Amino acid sequence: MNNSQRRAGSFRAVAPGRVNLIGDHTDYMGGLALPMAINLATTITATTASSVIELTSEQVDGDIHVPLPVTQPNQVTPGWGRYVAGVAAVLGSTEGFVGRVTSTLPLGSGLSSSAALEVATALALGDSGSPLEIAVHCQSAEQLASGVPCGIMDQLAIASATEGNGLLIDFSNNSVTEVPIPDTAQFWVIHSGEERQLVGSAYAERRAQAEQAAALVGPLPEADLSSINAVKDRVLRGRARHVQTECARVRLFAAALLQSDLHQCGRLMIESHTSLRDDYEVSTAKMDSLVNQLCATSGVYGARLTGAGFGGCVVALADPDIELQGLRVHPSAGAHLQWLTEDENESAQR
Ligand code: GLA
Repeated sequence: MNNSQRRAGSFRAVAPGRVNLIGDHTDYMGGLALPMAINLATTITATTASSVIELTSEQVDGDIHVPLPVTQPNQVTPGWGRYVAGVAAVLGSTEGFVGRVTSTLPLGSGLSSSAALEVATALALGDSGSPLEIAVHCQSAEQLASGVPCGIMDQLAIASATEGNGLLIDFSNNSVTEVPIPDTAQFWVIHSGEERQLVGSAYAERRAQAEQAAALVGPLPEADLSSINAVKDRVLRGRARHVQTECARVRLFAAALLQSDLHQCGRLMIESHTSLRDDYEVSTAKMDSLVNQLCATSGVYGARLTGAGFGGCVVALADPDIELQGLRVHPSAGAHLQWLTEDENESAQR
C-alpha cells in the first residue's frame, strides 16, 4: 500500500495486548482459540512525516530511524524497530511518522507486546483495512521481523476485540465470534518468573511437527482420535493429539462461558495446560509449579500457560473476590486510532 494520500496531523494509535484464555498452538493448524484483548496497551503518539519513521521508546533502549520505503526490515537496529519496519515493508509505506512509543504491557512475557506494536504501527501508517486485513499484514510483518512462522491469533485478537468480550476464533476461515465474559469471571495474568526461552526455534519445530502429523492423519482439528492414537511416532502423536483435543476444549469452554459455568471453564484450562505440557511439550518446570500452586488456591477455578509457552505468563480464572499476585486483566476494546487536536497534541508531548 502506497499511503501517499494519507491524512496529515498528530495522532495516537493504541493497541492492547492479549491473553489467550484457551486454544494454544492451534491457530497455524486451522483450529480454534479463545483470546481476549486486555486493559494494558502499547501507544504510538506521533505526527505524520514524509519518507521516515522515527520513534523513541520509554521502555526499551535505542531510538529507531527507518527511512521509507523499507527493504530489509530484519536488519533494522535496535531490534524492536524490526516489528515497526516489518509493517512498513508489508504495507509498502512511503509516508511515515515521528513520535514515541509508550507501553503499559510487560514486554516479552507472552502477552503479545510485539503484535501490539505491529498493529499500532499499521494504524499509524494509515492501514485502513478490515481487522482481518490489518491482522494479515501484521502477521506477515512479525514473520519478516522475527523469522518465526507465527500464526495470526495475536494480531487478529488485537485488531478485532471489543470491550467485555472474549473472541472465539475459527482459524479455518479466520472468523471471529464474540463471547461475553461474565462478571463473575476474573482473569489474572501471572508471570512465571522465567523469561521466555527458545520461542523462535522451538515454536518453528512444533509447527513443523504438527504439519508432519497432519500429513499422516489429515487436518488436525477434526482428525479422528483413533487415527491419531495409531500414529507410531510418539512426538507426532502427541502434537496431533494436543491440537485435536485443544480445539474440542475451546468449543466446550466457549459454551461454558456462555452459561457462566466457571467450574467447567477452569477444568478445561487445567486440561489444556496438561496437554500443552505433556503432548505439545511447551511448558517449563516453573510454569507447571505456578499452575499447580494456583489451582490449589481457594477461589481459583483453573490456570494454564498462555501463548507460545517456554516461559512467560500463565493465566488464571478466579472468583473476583480473591486477590492473586499478578495482573487483574479485563476484556478490552481492540486497537484504534485517534487524531489529536493541536491542544491535545501539545499536552501529549508534555
Ligand atoms: C504465539 C503466536 C500465535 C500462537 C501462539 C500459540 O503467540 O504468535 O500465533 O501460535 O503463540 O497459541
